[in-house]
Amino acid sequence: MPNFFVTGGAGFIGSAFVRLLLDELPACDVVNFDALTYAGNPDNLSDLEGEARHRFVRGDICDPRAVLDALGEATDYLFHFAAESHVDRSIESAREFIRTNVLGTQVLLDAARARRVRRFVHVSTDEVMGSLGEDDATFFTEDSPFAPNSPYAASKAAAEHLVRAAHHTFGLDCVVTRCGNNYGPRQFPEKLVPLAISNATADDPVPVYGDGRNVRDWIYVEDHCRAILAAAERGRAGEVYNVGARNERRNLEVVEAILDALGKPRSLARFVKDRPGHDRRYAIDPAKVERELGWRPRETWESGLRKTIRWYADHADWVARARSGDYREFYARQYGAS
Ligand code: NAD
Ligand code: TYD
Repeated sequence: MPNFFVTGGAGFIGSAFVRLLLDELPACDVVNFDALTYAGNPDNLSDLEGEARHRFVRGDICDPRAVLDALGEATDYLFHFAAESHVDRSIESAREFIRTNVLGTQVLLDAARARRVRRFVHVSTDEVMGSLGEDDATFFTEDSPFAPNSPYAASKAAAEHLVRAAHHTFGLDCVVTRCGNNYGPRQFPEKLVPLAISNATADDPVPVYGDGRNVRDWIYVEDHCRAILAAAERGRAGEVYNVGARNERRNLEVVEAILDALGKPRSLARFVKDRPGHDRRYAIDPAKVERELGWRPRETWESGLRKTIRWYADHADWVARARSGDYREFYARQYGAS
């Protein structure tokens, strides 16, 4: 029976991944280690109450004692999702990003060695590779040079370097996945897709940065999670796998698709001041993950967006709770009180 240790499993992607493990593996044991920051949401795990294979531990990955206590001697796979993940917040202040994303990753690597974890799976991002030209036919590959442009991306790049060093120096079995922009249920509504859905649902304007022509490569969250599991099971130690669904979209196109699906006027899209240092285009070449791991996305953009919009419509209480408290303060700082 495989033992899993998941960090950040109360967040958007981590909670989808925990659910995938429990769905796919009838016999398994999952320890879910999460600090429950503003982005960590116990609501994301409420349907797992009473699930004997899942144990939630509240703890900070920067605390070596807490990590060692929670990490048993027989962990097969450690999946590292926990992070500060929002670019705009990293522009406000990078401090927590350095603490959690850099220091926290090193604490986990040290603990994984001490506890003889069989494999360390590090969840990274395409943003470590910087920005591509708007109209050129170039793509991020696993060999693209690092060129992080935001404090968030820089902290994730540093984390990846530490993972690489743990593999190279100490022989820790590590695999890295680098994915593009995820969308799907349970994403904190500070990110573009859930922000657009929840604002449009409330007939509020949807802020579009700059000229709205920045390109992101979108993937449905469950498809990303399946790629991470495939990398754990079939990936080669020390390798990086870029994960993408060949789905480039301009931001304005994303917002308009959401407004159309909700039957709202496109005039709700509101151009606002651009993000400083805003990366122009991300686009992933997923040839390696497809070839080596036999992974393919299951959802199209249309089917994934339909599922996503339906989930937020069916979970108005989740949205209302997520949009209270800290979110309201951040929203007022970022976009001005409305
Ligand atoms: P999220 O912000 O929704 O969740 C992050 C989780 O980590 C939260 O539950 C939070 O409580 C927890 N956490 C934060 N600091 C912690 C700490 N010090 N100790 C323990 N737990 C802590 O993020 P997400 O969108 O689910 O992203 C998960 C991972 O995937 C991140 O590493 C991110 O860099 C990566 N990633 C995200 C995307 C995306 O589009 N969202 C794309 C590629 C890669
Ligand atoms: P985001 O969801 O923050 O992800 P990332 O910055 O990691 O790509 O943003 C996705 C894109 O949408 C990015 O180009 C910034 C843009 N954006 C807006 O235009 N308006 C918004 O209110 C937000 C949050 C993002």
